[in-house]
Amino acid sequence: MSRSHAVICFAVSVIALAAQPLRQLTDQRGIKLGAAADPSHLTEAAYADTLAREFSQLEPENAMKFGPIHPGPSTYNFGQPDSLVSFARQHNMAVRGHTLVWHNQLPSWVTSGTYSTTQLSGILHDHINAVVGHYAGQVYGWDVINEAFNDDGTLRSTIWLDSPGIGLSGTAYMEQSLRWTHEADPQALLFYNDYSAELVNSKSNAIYKMAQDFVSRGVPLNGIGMQMHFTTSNGSLASIESNIKRITDLGLQVHITELDVRLPVDSSGNATAADLAAQAQVYRDVFALCLKFPLCTSIQSWGFTDKYSWIPGAFPGRGAALEFDTAYQPKPAYKSIQTALQSSPPVISAAALTNAASYASGAVARAFAQSLPEAASCPARAACAQRWAGKKR
Ligand code: G3I
Repeated sequence: MSRSHAVICFAVSVIALAAQPLRQLTDQRGIKLGAAADPSHLTEAAYADTLAREFSQLEPENAMKFGPIHPGPSTYNFGQPDSLVSFARQHNMAVRGHTLVWHNQLPSWVTSGTYSTTQLSGILHDHINAVVGHYAGQVYGWDVINEAFNDDGTLRSTIWLDSPGIGLSGTAYMEQSLRWTHEADPQALLFYNDYSAELVNSKSNAIYKMAQDFVSRGVPLNGIGMQMHFTTSNGSLASIESNIKRITDLGLQVHITELDVRLPVDSSGNATAADLAAQAQVYRDVFALCLKFPLCTSIQSWGFTDKYSWIPGAFPGRGAALEFDTAYQPKPAYKSIQTALQSSPPVISAAALTNAASYASGAVARAFAQSLPEAASCPARAACAQRWAGKKR
């Protein structure tokens, strides 16, 4: 090959790499790339195209929460979340479910009713049965319990624990919820999900202690969700790494579930170039960290376009937290994710992925239905990824 020919080949492959959508890069590295999504935006072509092109997983941002999905004692709104699930099927994407047991976004018939603990227990059990049963075989994993600890590691006082509670003290109400979810869909992976518990601290210590107890007693818990609602200064990466290590050492998966990196913005919602660069570095660090652990199997952001994000509403003067800008153009964060992924060698070839996709119906759960013992005995990302690639749920 002549020198000029080689230069052209190199340039072509660099261009091809640069143009590779993120979901291809994560597929080849055995992890899912997700985004929280809202069914009301699917009719917007740029929204739908970007979601399907770049992501291999979606999670309803609100549509599967208790209030939206179960607004009356015997009324279920499956229409909206179903549209997300069918979009995912159409585009070969996995679906994570969010969330079954949370103190927030509850319907008034639950919060204003005067129920005994026995009645409340029945309400929660029926809810889990109906929702998880409806999505069995379509939702591969659930945030069963969301945000049940305070920052100091004590249990949050909630309607499900103690006001009035379902009649079980301590973490027993979470154990019961996991068992009910497992009964409703024995194949689904079950997660405990929380924020401000990424580093080793009082909250993550309490979650770890609970996880350790559940694992030792065979309670159906498959992983811990780390939300990662971040800024550009999040404390020590080494501490996050230690936390991921101790969780995965239990044989549990870690999913990064709600990543975003909020920035100061002007009145038009624009951040400075320096802040966008610092944000890109945070995204890069998070991806590089997850890639170190075979059991860190999913990275998901809380939305994907700055056009739709909970941040400006919740943190006035902050925004621009996601990978795409309001016009769906990739930001420096997108490029830094590409770089982090390209710096980690692929463990699955493109051909193997094609085969796996045609083998598994919709490839939805390619890889993700592995049982706890299997996961624990799968020490290297390459081995795990190859095993999971051929697995049909
Ligand atoms: O759907 C109603 C609409 O009918 C009504 O007209 C409108 C009036 O305000 O409200 C709409 O509901 C809002 C809903 O988002 C959908 O847009 C709720 O008021 C609003 O509270 C809700 O906010 C959501 C928030 O959870 C609730 O706590 C955010 O979108 C959602 O991003 C956020 O997500 C949470 C995760 O579930 C758990 N971790 C933290 C994360 C961020 O808070």
